[in-house]
Amino acid sequence: MTTTLAAHGGPRTLNVDGPHYQWPTVDDSLEEALRVQLHRSLSDRDARGVIGEYERAFAAFVGVPHAISFASGTAAIHAMSRIAGLKPGDAIVAPAYTFFATASPFGFDGIQVLFADADTCGNVTAQTIAQQLQSNVKAVIVTHMWGNPCRMDEIAALCTERGLLLLEDCSHAHFASWSGQRAGTFGDMAVFSTNQKAITTGEGGMLVTRSDRFRELALLYGHYNKRCLTEIDPGAEFYPFAFTGMGLKHRITTLGAAIGLHQLARADDIQARRRTVLDTFVKGLDGNPVITPVSTPAGQGEHGLYVIGLRFHVENATVTRQEFIDLCVAEGAHEVDAPGSTRDISGEPLFARHDPFAPWQSGHVEQAMLPGVRAFQGSFLKIPIWGYPGDQELVEGYLAALNKVTGAVSR
Ligand SMILES: Cc1ncc(COP(=O)(O)O)c(C=O)c1O
Repeated sequence: MTTTLAAHGGPRTLNVDGPHYQWPTVDDSLEEALRVQLHRSLSDRDARGVIGEYERAFAAFVGVPHAISFASGTAAIHAMSRIAGLKPGDAIVAPAYTFFATASPFGFDGIQVLFADADTCGNVTAQTIAQQLQSNVKAVIVTHMWGNPCRMDEIAALCTERGLLLLEDCSHAHFASWSGQRAGTFGDMAVFSTNQKAITTGEGGMLVTRSDRFRELALLYGHYNKRCLTEIDPGAEFYPFAFTGMGLKHRITTLGAAIGLHQLARADDIQARRRTVLDTFVKGLDGNPVITPVSTPAGQGEHGLYVIGLRFHVENATVTRQEFIDLCVAEGAHEVDAPGSTRDISGEPLFARHDPFAPWQSGHVEQAMLPGVRAFQGSFLKIPIWGYPGDQELVEGYLAALNKVTGAVSR
């Protein structure tokens, strides 16, 4: 193999036109599922059709009694906030490093968000959460970043000890588990975004819970009228609100639910292929001094299979992370990427705003990036995990490109 990089006039490692990641796989069976749904119903007001089928399949997939669908993960997180009973004056501990929607619905309501630091996987820990606890904290939300599960036994023990509600943002963690227990089953409620995630509905979100009460409240915060009137216990103190709900509607579309149902029927195949791809990179990058896969220690957790995260070791390289990425892109590995939207969110003005009726008035934002977040964010890059027929050329090409560039830039 030549050592001349494509950026320096050598041959490209990978010659496949982009885009290099398209999800879900649009095949005949998905087109047929959507065609059938088009004729079946474009709007369901209750759970007797595809929405109920999708929710039941999702609950079985996670292993929880209840799954309630929403128009987006963000809407579902907002419902969790309201179900948790959080209000201005209360506080929640959230990751400083995450996609902002983990915390933005709390900011919308003027709830104080206290930001916890990240470990070497980009995740909050019981320790970094404990550092933020103060008397008005009522809940904790964690994100299993990029697919690596948080250390949930320790976090759950902390929340139980302090009497805090535990919420999980499982948007990256559809296939994740910690100590043999599925992500999304440790807390009081969990949300899975299904926007372009391992299980996707195009746009959408799912709230899962073991609690019958939280399930009914989730209906009230997302699905008014018919579903609430037929599915909420008439004896519940909030039943009088069933007709109007709490005022808002956040239903998923029937076509989105049909895509989700189609995906869930293939979840085992998606998981098997994605795990193989992940293993290929873990093995193929073994001993690479410049980039190493970001993963929880073997045996402790299963990866959620959202993307493959990589750590760039600048101390072992003659180039910066961005220069490394540019060299990979020149090799044809277009989707080696340092994420822009998922980053430290602790300084965002949304979180300094504590009056929900004064939307554009923020307080003073005073924020130094936490040390774990700085280290993780400054060294992280990612590649797709693919997981569909015909992805082998991309898997091999990206691995070859990463190793070729490493060979040229390692100290
Ligand atoms: C960690 C995380 N939380 C929440 C969300 C929000 O989900 P949605 O885009 O479905 O509203 C996302 C979306 O990318 C996410 O990555």
